[in-house]
Amino acid sequence: MPVSIRSLHPVFAGEVAGVDCHQPLSPAEVAAIEAGMDQYAVLVFREQNITDEEQITFTRHFGELESYSTLGHIRRRPEQRLGPGIADFSNLDKDGRIMSVEDRVWFFKLGDRLWHSDSSFRPVPAKYSILSGRVIPSWGANTEFADMRAAYDALDERTKAEVEDLVCEHSLIYSREAIGFTDLTAEEIAAFQPIRQPLVRTHPATGRKSLFLAAHAGAIVGWTIPEARMFLRDLTEHATQRDFVYSHEWRPYDLVMWDNRQTMHRARRFDRDEVRDVRRTTLAGDAPLIEQSM
Ligand SMILES: [Fe+2]
Repeated sequence: MPVSIRSLHPVFAGEVAGVDCHQPLSPAEVAAIEAGMDQYAVLVFREQNITDEEQITFTRHFGELESYSTLGHIRRRPEQRLGPGIADFSNLDKDGRIMSVEDRVWFFKLGDRLWHSDSSFRPVPAKYSILSGRVIPSWGANTEFADMRAAYDALDERTKAEVEDLVCEHSLIYSREAIGFTDLTAEEIAAFQPIRQPLVRTHPATGRKSLFLAAHAGAIVGWTIPEARMFLRDLTEHATQRDFVYSHEWRPYDLVMWDNRQTMHRARRFDRDEVRDVRRTTLAGDAPLIEQSM
């Protein structure tokens, strides 16, 4: 069965048919999915009840896994529930119990409810993220996506000129500070030093420009912090207006793949007494977008 994609939203996001993520993909299937990602930026694959190993194999069709053993990971391997190559975005601790409301890992996770692009705080930000929904709460827990190409296109000409050459500083510290979580260790503060990223990026395949925003962005080079924070807040509000947002309502075994270079996303609230077991594989970007001169 050939790969086909139907649109889920007027601006972006599509649902894929004809792909079985248990099986190795043919080069034609990989090419069709990549073309779909270039166009839709978010793709949904339904009824993919896959293992972690199958998710990793599926992900590797599209490039190298992101590896961040040395930078910016708050839970060390022995404290983790899942094996290498796949990140745990559940609300479970290493023993499979729902995390304490006071668990600082939970505080870090709560920050994902702010609009962001994965790993924008790393020198090489992520390309695609692939999230597998294994156990879905009965209420809430949508993932929302915003099309940052549409957001860029809708800027007025004056603002387009203003943002063109701006450079932002991204850090997990900024996004966690925004929810009042400032109790970071010296080691974490050292690991999360701000990383510079351009505010406008151009997609390598389509040439489309997009705003590279995230809650991790907390400064603009050459600007005062209050001026920068207000401008970033205004841009984020513009970029996440409802016309540019697709809200994904999870069904068990959905696999959702998004392009961090063209979208932002955020997690939505759910009943924390229920299990949410979602697991993410992440594809590394190609190279730093900008020289880090700090
Ligand atoms: Fe994320």
